Amino acid sequence: MRWILPIPETNYVKTATKRFFFLSDTMFHPKGPTFWELAEQALSSTQRGYDLLAPKFDYTPFRTPQFLLDAVSEQLTALGPFDAGLDICCGTGAALATIRRHCRCRVTGIDFSQGMLQVARQRTADAPGEASLEFVRGDVLAMPFTAAFDLAVCFGAFGHILQRDEPRFVAEIARVLRPGGRFVFVTTYMPPWTSPHYWFSRLFNAAMRVRNFLIKPEFIMYYLTFLLPKVETLLRQHGFEVEVRNMGFKGMWSAARLVIATRS
Ligand SMILES: C[S@@+](CC[C@H](N)C(=O)[O-])C[C@H]1O[C@@H](n2cnc3c(N)ncnc32)[C@H](O)[C@@H]1O
Repeated sequence: MRWILPIPETNYVKTATKRFFFLSDTMFHPKGPTFWELAEQALSSTQRGYDLLAPKFDYTPFRTPQFLLDAVSEQLTALGPFDAGLDICCGTGAALATIRRHCRCRVTGIDFSQGMLQVARQRTADAPGEASLEFVRGDVLAMPFTAAFDLAVCFGAFGHILQRDEPRFVAEIARVLRPGGRFVFVTTYMPPWTSPHYWFSRLFNAAMRVRNFLIKPEFIMYYLTFLLPKVETLLRQHGFEVEVRNMGFKGMWSAARLVIATRS
């Protein structure tokens, strides 16, 4: 069939699909990934998907927004300083750069994507702060650390932890924190079932389940996970004292809550 088409078949299909769905070359930003790059990522495993996305990740809305990190940083000022900080699922290092200024000795980013870690290393080299920077490749469900940290943070990654793995995930965080260490993160409550957010998330999750049933390896990414009040119970079960603060945002972020879980 190829000879019938004026341009190579794959490009023809891509162009036609793009025109049909009114898709632009780049999805979010001129330097961001194209629709096809995102599709390729979504059809790969979680780890490989992030390896592919890494160079363009910071130009997507998947990177935690700076205003949110700045708001958390303000709250950390009153809780710190800390000796050693850990950014769980650090990606390209957005939060790593933020917590460095609150840590005196070292900050460590852990992620299973080598591509993301490489970008993190470049992007955080000049981040404000004196603490040494470490990048560790590993699975956050089995972290290669002892109880060595006073602060652990995790942003934009709870959707990559299956709900059945959440107890193991929280147990790992409790294990790598020193007594009195803090696990600080932002989450929210379940949105009302009448909201577009709720239905978008449910439809996305359903599509993901179909994708993961049909295509292996799986891409683990589900919305509406690690939510209050369930996560508070889970943290308490693993020996944390939990404080939940309203972050005071307006509009679509008004439901955001800062959780400060202290290992007792
Ligand atoms: C959406 S990115 C978030 C990056 C960064 N924390 C931020 O807020 O911008 C999610 C990151 O989690 C990592 N990740 C997902 N599951 C993981 C696992 N089980 N172990 C280690 N890293 C994981 C991915 O490689 C990716 O870099």
